[in-house]
Amino acid sequence: MADPPSILHLPDDAFLLRGDGFAYALAVTPGGDLRHLHWGGPIEPADVGVLLTDDAREFGSNTWSSPRAHTEELVAHGGRRLDESALKVEFADGVRALDLAAESTAVSGDELTVRLADRHYPFAAELHYRVRGGALERWTTLVNDGDAPIVLDRAYSAGWALPWQPRWVATWLAGAYAAETQLTRRELGPGRLVLESRRGIPGHAAQPWLALDAGDEARASDEAGAVWSVALAWSGSWRLTAELAADGRLHVTAGVNDFDLRHPLPPGTSWTTPVTVGVFAAAGHDELTDRWHAYERTHVVPRPDAVRPVLYNSWEATFFDVRPESQLELARRAAALGAELFVVDDGWFAGREDESAGVGDWTPDRSAFPDGLKPLADEVQALGMRFGVWVEPEAVSPDSDLFRAHPDWIYQWPTRPRTLARQTHLLALSRPDVRAHLVQALDALLSSAPIDALKWDLNRPLTEASSGLEGAGSVWVEHVEGFYEVLDRVRERHPGVWIESCASGGGRADLGVLSRAEWVWPSDNTDALERLAIQHGYAYAHSPHTMMAWVTDSPTYLTKREIPLRFRFHSAMTGLLGVGGNLAEWSDADLAAAAEYVAQYKRIRATVQFGTLRRLSGAPDDVTALSYLAPDGAQVAVFAFAPSVRRLRRTVLLRLRGLDPAAVYADAATGTRYSGALLHHHGLRVALTGDYASELVVLDRI
Ligand code: GLA
Repeated sequence: MADPPSILHLPDDAFLLRGDGFAYALAVTPGGDLRHLHWGGPIEPADVGVLLTDDAREFGSNTWSSPRAHTEELVAHGGRRLDESALKVEFADGVRALDLAAESTAVSGDELTVRLADRHYPFAAELHYRVRGGALERWTTLVNDGDAPIVLDRAYSAGWALPWQPRWVATWLAGAYAAETQLTRRELGPGRLVLESRRGIPGHAAQPWLALDAGDEARASDEAGAVWSVALAWSGSWRLTAELAADGRLHVTAGVNDFDLRHPLPPGTSWTTPVTVGVFAAAGHDELTDRWHAYERTHVVPRPDAVRPVLYNSWEATFFDVRPESQLELARRAAALGAELFVVDDGWFAGREDESAGVGDWTPDRSAFPDGLKPLADEVQALGMRFGVWVEPEAVSPDSDLFRAHPDWIYQWPTRPRTLARQTHLLALSRPDVRAHLVQALDALLSSAPIDALKWDLNRPLTEASSGLEGAGSVWVEHVEGFYEVLDRVRERHPGVWIESCASGGGRADLGVLSRAEWVWPSDNTDALERLAIQHGYAYAHSPHTMMAWVTDSPTYLTKREIPLRFRFHSAMTGLLGVGGNLAEWSDADLAAAAEYVAQYKRIRATVQFGTLRRLSGAPDDVTALSYLAPDGAQVAVFAFAPSVRRLRRTVLLRLRGLDPAAVYADAATGTRYSGALLHHHGLRVALTGDYASELVVLDRI
């Protein structure tokens, strides 16, 4: 049983925060410093007294690294803090150094707040800590109590001090469009690793997520070794750094990117950073993955307990050629396969013949849908499915009624050319009138027909970071806050609607959007083999419960690779199963087989969506294998994939982890019985013959 989270206020103004499998300790020193003491495995209250006497100072006055990063909870720019600080402001008189002292502390339930106030200026930083199961959430509120303006040049959510270790290896999820979340590992040397996005969205190049362990470079240990991990819940430009001091101590920062930031903090106002989340695992990457998945499922996503529906999406079937008859034909076939949600992708709205026009006008194309979307939605629902549509609310085509009416509603510099991307501009969601318009437009759309779901896309970066409004804050911040506000208000008005987050595939898949979207579209690449690598990385940071995957046509439209239906289904069944092929052209045999796979998925989906994931192979190459154990332990789903015949391989032996050694498990298809001990110590023999071989073995505990 996990211990209930607790926050203890100890002698010497020390605090011990304890969650599932971790502890975090800090103390206010008599001089008013907020000192970091511990982040890692659980420790006892009495240990904190020892940590207080632990002298972590360095010798010398000109050391490579400032010692502050490892001893201060908030490294604020000023004095000898010359490495990565978390906070830098400019006061009205031009002073850019901070001098903060702890003023007060408050514990309320599982939350601790420490207020640091500047010794000279009416400015404060409130540091927040909240225990959430096996995760610690941290964020900072910056307060201008004076009557002069302050500018925030950098305001990270927090810095994380990691203890000494002889070696540090970083794991992160690097990528590109159509090749997101590729697992990447590198040993750190002294210096700084910077992962970031400057695009106004989290982007494809990396996820705002990082893990650090002492393992080897080739492969993280799944079953052993301490791992620290940090993520940021922010759907805009972000920055994570990991700075390794010469003495082996590591300092990680996470926050809104300070690139071009200059966020004003007017007199009498405050600004709260996004949340950064720290997760510690004592026993390797298996445990780390379990903790992230549990955190996301329990504390982040909406409708955490709801089984996700089998989706059909029409994008790769009809692209921009959206007509009611062909959609209905797809819907009939999708319903026959067992799909439960039918989403009409891009192309259904006025003026949308191709990429060049229409974004911004969220009304159905009149010639295709003279009576709006309701007739189609009704028919889809009569087939027993829910109905959804694609939108890209933050973008606007120059060729749209919205842009013609409000050419001033986009980010632009008066004297500079405007940057088009995928032939759109970005609406200035920093502006209250633009936010109000979008809420109203989406409300009108959702009220016009029984729409149960939105695929919410954004296919361009933020380029001209101008506000267009006098006295407004930094667009880098306010655009994201506007996006959240619109999304929240739309969800409030239409609480039944489910939302999928997409930004040209997986460009917006962070914990911030995931607290407002049921799932994510992790990549436009629906090639089932490429997807194995994308999904392998994705599942380090996120639960399969948020990972949509479609079965599309063969050859697949992006890669032109031909892959058998079986492999395509098995690959997609490791997450949220969707279908995105042109069913009108599928053979009867394929449709019948597809219906079988969908039915099989429904029998295992609670295990896949809510269970414990184990990666049974390394980074996908020769053989990829993974298992899911149901929360109650009663079912195990084992997937194995081999794209090509190599080394005359006919079978693989997969050692399953996490099973009850004393229990007996029966193969649902063959009836063969295995003990948990045999499956763990010897392994499960799985046949993989021929190119694109794949296997799904379902074991039921007897
Ligand atoms: C983006 C998305 C795709 C699809 C298209 C539609 O590229 O990632 O899934 O919705 O837009 O234009």
